[in-house]
Amino acid sequence: MTEAPVITIDGPSGSGKGTVSQKLATDLGWHYLDSGAIYRALAYAAELAGIEGSAGKEQIVSLARELKLKFSPADDGGAGVLLAGTDISDSIRTEECGAMASKLAADGEIRAALLQRQRDFRQPPGLVADGRDMGTVVFPDATHKFFLTASAQVRAERRYKQLKEKGINDSISRLFTVISERDARDAGRSNSPLTPATDAIVLDTSDMSLDEVIGFVKQHVGYQSL
Ligand code: DC
Repeated sequence: MTEAPVITIDGPSGSGKGTVSQKLATDLGWHYLDSGAIYRALAYAAELAGIEGSAGKEQIVSLARELKLKFSPADDGGAGVLLAGTDISDSIRTEECGAMASKLAADGEIRAALLQRQRDFRQPPGLVADGRDMGTVVFPDATHKFFLTASAQVRAERRYKQLKEKGINDSISRLFTVISERDARDAGRSNSPLTPATDAIVLDTSDMSLDEVIGFVKQHVGYQSL
């Protein structure tokens, strides 16, 4: 049986990959995987369980395998994240949770424990997957691969607006620092680092509107014919 088609959209935080991927999935009527939400949910669950640092590594690997995670459609077109039935969508969006997720995500065993869970999202009629290693590791045979970038300043400003919409107040300068640190960690790790797949289309979105980026991606995937 041929597998369902996959479009991967990777990139650093604030590159616009989440919003672009969600919109594309909605317009195509395809499934959507927010892989970052899985890493964030694991970090959240580990904190909730009081598991900390490298001492708790085996416990975190077990937690990753058993994580009772569900995605449900959210009102804003994104996905609501449910951990054992509790809606944690907003709680996992803080930069603190992002930083914890990034630290856990550097570990190869933890990544391996989450791999199949991500691949299971590949269902007909198709999947749009966003993350850091969607095109390189999780779906290396994806039909189309994109890697979105933007300057750190632009990404900090976008994150600021995103958080503000969710009622979370932060400062652009602080976000610039934490986002830069997180990206350096994600790009510098040896396990599935943040890097474009060799066959990915790399797009700098710094000076592009969301509609322009979506238009670019749709044009490249032959949206009308999918
Ligand atoms: O996409 P995000 O900002 O929600 O992701 C949070 C963290 O999770 C990110 O800093 C690194 C990790 N992550 C990862 O290592 N691999 C992915 N495919 C997605 C996220």
